[in-house]
Amino acid sequence: MGALRYLTAGESHGPCEVGIVDGVPAGLPLAEADFAHDLAQRQAGYGRGARMQIERDQVQILSGVVNGRTIGSPLALRIDNRDWANWRDREVPPWSVPRPGHADLAGSLKYAQTDLRLIAERASARETAARVALGVGAKRLLSQFGIETASHVLSIGGAFANPPKLTLPQMRKRVDASPVRCADPQGDTAMREAIDEARTQGDSLGGTFEVIAEGVPPGLGSHVHWDRRLDGLLAQAMMSVPGIKGVEIGAGFVVASQPGTQVHDEVLPGLTRPTNRAGGTEGGISNGQPIVVRAAMKPIPTTITPIRSVDMSTGAATRTQYQRSDVCAVPAASVVGESMVALVLANAFLEKFGGDHIEETRRNYEGYLASIDKWWTKT
Ligand SMILES: Cc1cc2nc3c(=O)[nH]c(=O)nc-3n(C[C@H](O)[C@H](O)[C@H](O)COP(=O)(O)O)c2cc1C
Repeated sequence: MGALRYLTAGESHGPCEVGIVDGVPAGLPLAEADFAHDLAQRQAGYGRGARMQIERDQVQILSGVVNGRTIGSPLALRIDNRDWANWRDREVPPWSVPRPGHADLAGSLKYAQTDLRLIAERASARETAARVALGVGAKRLLSQFGIETASHVLSIGGAFANPPKLTLPQMRKRVDASPVRCADPQGDTAMREAIDEARTQGDSLGGTFEVIAEGVPPGLGSHVHWDRRLDGLLAQAMMSVPGIKGVEIGAGFVVASQPGTQVHDEVLPGLTRPTNRAGGTEGGISNGQPIVVRAAMKPIPTTITPIRSVDMSTGAATRTQYQRSDVCAVPAASVVGESMVALVLANAFLEKFGGDHIEETRRNYEGYLASIDKWWTKT
């Protein structure tokens, strides 16, 4: 059990999505308006479908906050599904044709359901709205201690970004202004063109994105057990985002083809590191360098062009029927990925520093910083 425990509930055509998190210290400033930016970023993005034009995600804080501050009890967050009003009184015929690339087939066998919709509605990435809401709380906690996160899209289909070196505030500014959340204007144009082309072809696209966390102190996570390693926890959290099929920490897969002397980040006097190919973790512990995690998302499984499947009510060969869908959701997934990284880091931070009130956490953190001050100074 971690210091922070979080769960989500909700089906995409049900009344709402819910996120619950236990373990947030008391005294953290938090208001409903704080959630608006990240939820809007998750909903936006070039390539998204009609559903996101219906929803206007807003968080209602149901518990855990009084007078704008957390009180130490579980935080429950609710996001209404506006689309519910369009579905609740409808007679909806059951689905029997699984969409390849979705949970439909395996989920219906596992849960003994003949209507695949009952699987699809929980497997839907609509659930990630609740994760993003939970991530806002995590980011708020981290920012109290100078830890900041950002995310940006690196590629969509065959279109790649080549962003310059940017500070996190510079990156956020560029990303917020880009419909594909890309920090490089040329990459932005190429990515939008790639999405337009895929839409014209009746197809879909995936891509890659990066999450960066700066100001993370050395010492989060641990080398002592497999399930306490920070890199493992980050990879699991990132891989849990629907559609993510690959995760890299730091230079990731590239290092497998390079000799050790060109990979490992040398240590200079003062414990500075001229490079950060390790992506901020060594031995499963944060090492004081920025955390850098990248993820690869597969193309959206629902395509306008039908693909082969089987009608599970008859066993006969058939083709998929197009359901309203995104053509590309990599920009939205980058927001979800950033939320997951924030949740993992907030959990690891509270595991190390504890505290039932944020000022207790601060005292513990400052005591630790003083103990390593000779070697690591927070910038
Ligand atoms: C933000 C976001 C939006 C998504 N939108 C869609 C969509 O509109 N249509 C679709 O078929 N899949 C969409 N996906 C991907 C599916 O949810 C995902 O591929 C599916 O649940 C199967 O999970 P898996 O790919 O991890 O195996 C989206 C994923 C994310 C993260």
